[in-house]
Amino acid sequence: MKQNKVKIAVLVSGGGTNLQALIDAEHSGIIKSGTISLVVSNVKDAYALTRAENAGIESLTLSKKSLGSQDAFEDKLIEELDRRGIELIILAGFMSILSEKFTRRFADRIINVHPSLIPSFCGKGFYGLRVHEAALEYGVKVTGATVHFVNEIPDGGKIIMQKAVKILENDTPETLQKRVMKIAEWKILPLSAEKISAQILAKRA
Ligand code: GAR
Repeated sequence: MKQNKVKIAVLVSGGGTNLQALIDAEHSGIIKSGTISLVVSNVKDAYALTRAENAGIESLTLSKKSLGSQDAFEDKLIEELDRRGIELIILAGFMSILSEKFTRRFADRIINVHPSLIPSFCGKGFYGLRVHEAALEYGVKVTGATVHFVNEIPDGGKIIMQKAVKILENDTPETLQKRVMKIAEWKILPLSAEKISAQILAKRA
């Protein structure tokens, strides 16, 4: 029954292909223990908001700039999440770092997808295309994606799932980003969302 499912909020900042993978996974039944109930963007015109609208999912934009501070942004976010009874927060291309106060408030209830095999190419300053640029620059032959819990250390929480992706001779940051998304991120993010939702459900019983 839908009302028994774990209510999920997805936080986004950009194109939202990972959000789309989550939406598709809920439709296909890969995610069955949770339901995407809210999409929050910190960027007004993020295409992810259009994806939410197309899927009939409630969305809202919260801007740190117009709310005045990180603190005010997080207080408002907590208010919106609590009001809807959100139990799991998924960071899917959310390009803003959350404070210790926030991550503690939702301990073991926030997961993030990162486009490398943590602990490589992660932490402050490693996001989006930069991660793939760094991997190519270093010359690693294998990269991938990681889904992990979010704590006060950027990309430092417990790992939930990882998937490796081979680097090809002629890869550019753009071709690598695309392949990592397709082979790794869009697969392990929905699987992790289901895994953690099922664990939350089991704890409720
Ligand atoms: C994804 O590759 C995601 O892993 C990465 O940004 C991209 C967002 O794409 N996130 C980070 O780098 C966070 N540190 P999307 O908006 O199409 O899902």
